[in-house]
Amino acid sequence: YGYKSRYPMKVKFLNLGSLDNIIECLSPGDNLNLGIFDKVSRAGIPNHKLIKTPEQLEGIRKAGKLNTAILDMVAENIKAGMSTDDINTLGHNYTVEHGGIPAPLGYQGFPKSVCTSVNDAICHGIPDPNQILQDGDIINVDVTTILDGYYADASRMFLIGNVCDEARKLVEVTKESVDLALKEVKPWGRLGDIGAVISEYVHQHGYTVLRDIGGHGVGNDFHEDPYVCHKRGTGMLLVPGMVFTIEPMVNEGKEDFFVDEENEWTVYTEDGSLSAQWEYTVAVTEDGVEIITH
Ligand code: MF3
Ligand code: CO
Ligand code: CO
Repeated sequence: YGYKSRYPMKVKFLNLGSLDNIIECLSPGDNLNLGIFDKVSRAGIPNHKLIKTPEQLEGIRKAGKLNTAILDMVAENIKAGMSTDDINTLGHNYTVEHGGIPAPLGYQGFPKSVCTSVNDAICHGIPDPNQILQDGDIINVDVTTILDGYYADASRMFLIGNVCDEARKLVEVTKESVDLALKEVKPWGRLGDIGAVISEYVHQHGYTVLRDIGGHGVGNDFHEDPYVCHKRGTGMLLVPGMVFTIEPMVNEGKEDFFVDEENEWTVYTEDGSLSAQWEYTVAVTEDGVEIITH
């Protein structure tokens, strides 16, 4: 679908504000393409701003419930023959009918209410009435909802019709990597353990994971500190009240990517191989993890 060519800029995304708490996920001398996540702090302890109050957590939880319901509704309706813009319409309408606001709409100029990334599109796919879902496609639908000022962010993969075993396996392994990472989310854990578990698991299956686009703090805003790298790193200490996403982008082939030159958003695999992603928003609790939206 469409014409893909290289957009010679960094991935456009993520208005972080303060970058003081970005985790270490680099070796010295590494040149990380993090867009505006380009200032890397060695800080190992979360700043107080990263810890949500009980009241904020309650608001974020409500946003998370609506966000999950939107993805459940998409799951019930998605099928071959639909356009990716039909998915956008479903998601948009459901959100506003339930008192929410779709966070992507107008975010840094993003033109639609959800992201729909098909096959070799890694992320930030723009819903399009001319892009029709075909039997055998895999698609990521990424939904972020604002409710009463609070944000929750999640995405799922959907298999359209009869999907080949290779694609199915990629989608399953990516999901399993996130489920493994959830076990690392607990007080005294480290953000870097999340990346280590994910990258080791997907590498075992012969896949690669993007280092330069990853998870993020979320809740009071769309994209907050810290940056959550899905590769090994030491990373920040996890403490109760932190809320962030885990959202590995896993490629069947090489890790390299490019950004669509026409729309300046959609990220594709450089080698045309398939890519999968699952995203959860999670909170660190007193003794483990709470899934805010999935
Ligand atoms: N939901 C994406 C994420 O997981 C961000 C999308 S930005 C948008 O961080 F503008 F494309 F919506
Ligand atoms: Co996210
Ligand atoms: Co998302």
